[in-house]
Amino acid sequence: MQSDTRSLLASRVIEAMRAAFGDQAGDDPKLTPATRPDFGDYQCNAAMSLSKKVRARPRDVAAKILENLDVADICESPLIAGPGFINLTLHDDFVNTKLNLMLSDRSRLGVAEREPPQRIVVDFSSPNIAKDMHVGHLRSTIIGDTLARILEFLGHTTIRLNHTGDWGTQFGQLITYMKDECPQLLEEGHDSEAAATIGDLVEFYRRAKNRYDDAPDFKNAALAEVVQLQSGNPDTLRAWNLICNLSRIEFQKIYDRLDIKLEERGESFYNPFLADVVKDLQDKGLAVKNDGAMVIFLEGDKFKGGDGKPLPVIVQKSDGGFLYATTDLAAVRYRSLEDKADRILYVTDVGQSLHFQQIFAVCRKAQLLPEHVSLEHVPFGLVQGADGKKFKTRAGAAPKLSELLDEARDRVRIELEKRAEEDVERAREAGDAPPPQKSDEEMQNVSEVIGVAAVKYADLQNNRTSNYKFSFDKMVKLEGNTAPYIMYAFARVQGIYRTAAAASGDAVAGVDPGVEFAFEKKEERALSKILMRLPEILSELERDLLPHVLCDYVKTVTTRFNQFYEECPVLHASSDELKLSRLALCQISADTLQLCLGLLGIPTLDRI
Ligand code: ARG
Repeated sequence: MQSDTRSLLASRVIEAMRAAFGDQAGDDPKLTPATRPDFGDYQCNAAMSLSKKVRARPRDVAAKILENLDVADICESPLIAGPGFINLTLHDDFVNTKLNLMLSDRSRLGVAEREPPQRIVVDFSSPNIAKDMHVGHLRSTIIGDTLARILEFLGHTTIRLNHTGDWGTQFGQLITYMKDECPQLLEEGHDSEAAATIGDLVEFYRRAKNRYDDAPDFKNAALAEVVQLQSGNPDTLRAWNLICNLSRIEFQKIYDRLDIKLEERGESFYNPFLADVVKDLQDKGLAVKNDGAMVIFLEGDKFKGGDGKPLPVIVQKSDGGFLYATTDLAAVRYRSLEDKADRILYVTDVGQSLHFQQIFAVCRKAQLLPEHVSLEHVPFGLVQGADGKKFKTRAGAAPKLSELLDEARDRVRIELEKRAEEDVERAREAGDAPPPQKSDEEMQNVSEVIGVAAVKYADLQNNRTSNYKFSFDKMVKLEGNTAPYIMYAFARVQGIYRTAAAASGDAVAGVDPGVEFAFEKKEERALSKILMRLPEILSELERDLLPHVLCDYVKTVTTRFNQFYEECPVLHASSDELKLSRLALCQISADTLQLCLGLLGIPTLDRI
């Protein structure tokens, strides 16, 4: 069930189009929020495209749609503008009803839970064991978490999966190296978790790779170790577990700081199913032998290389080993059959697009999953430095995520201290008592919360499909489209609402529904209309999975609230009715910001 205004209007427009043009009408009403306020609230652009099909002038097509359009309960009389746009302006009564719904339902603000809910796998974060989590994984983690939060809020059940890279030939090299160089770490009962870190593993792995290339004996031992791992040799498995655990400890620290919940189900989980998947593909005639390997050829230009030659999907190497793609095929099958997923999302960088298109195509062709299950790659662009090149630390290395979060926290702290000093100065000049100071600990805590939020928001606020320039300078600013700005704005809205509510006595616990909203000034109407769009913004997110849309929404609510507050006195409104209407708008604004920030994974602070 869709509860939002845009969908409601869209279905009415489609009905009118059908009544006017029958089957030729199609089912796209081309209804969008109006691009300018004088076009009303929504505009329907369907007449232009329909005019070609039905061979009539767009304005006449629009007039015919209008003749059949029944929206009197929602809008003022629709108007035709320009070449044939239909402009729709919401009725004050309709806005009133929606706002009262938001007052009566403070935790959901009129957003309906989906019926029936879906089971949605969100495959995100997914770093590789024995390697550092890099900024690409940070992006995946932040975007995946927000999407999961939104889908959960809409009533869906999510399965948040961390598809860690915890299997593969690299373990043979790493274990062989550790056996040679630091066997004590691998001994049973040794407290290795205290003795080594992921940093050591990364270094071991680097050296192991060099040795693998240079020393034939080492290479042979490493290959033999892979066989031991695959056949379940207890010593080798213990070493593998230890390596995985050391990595996990480090990853978990990042997840804790970012407040991310994830279920680890690494690549190794699917090992028992790989041979069967390949056999199934072979039986269905899809996987064929090619140069000793098992491969699948797919039709279509997108599965051809630049030279026009097909790009087959390799599912088994000539030495019998399985690959990244094989695991993903087994994972799709498991997630649809065992997890009963209706929708499976993969949040990875855009560089993996071809891989996922191949996987999805193989799954459909081989009918590895029921048809209704939707498979979606949710790609994102690269993280770049301010110079547009690959993001690096000043020393030129790949940044460690924990250090990156530390730096965000420290820079936020500098900004907050600057502002606190300015406040003291201002109070001194005005002859007021100095504002209360935060203790060192409080300052550090607030800086950590805002610092982490700054990193998240800076990422989410960009259209995920573009590359994004990582800039500490920008993200910690107290002005602009940043987390600190938005968090300050929330604290202010909340403060204004609390003060006003306390002064009007009975509103402290919340304004009761049944308010007659007054739109005395245009700023009141503008704020109301953006507030009541929340359900449709979330529907859009549910479909398109673009978190920046929610950031833009939060930013617009903030701006319109500020304009409203500047123009519309609340406590000194000219009548009690007007005061209550404005107080209610303050409350809905605060509730909306709190809800949306929560969905972005950003906590709200009442005072900063
Ligand atoms: N571990 C992979 C990487 O770091 C990402 C895994 C994404 N998920 C998947 N099902 N393939 O690139």
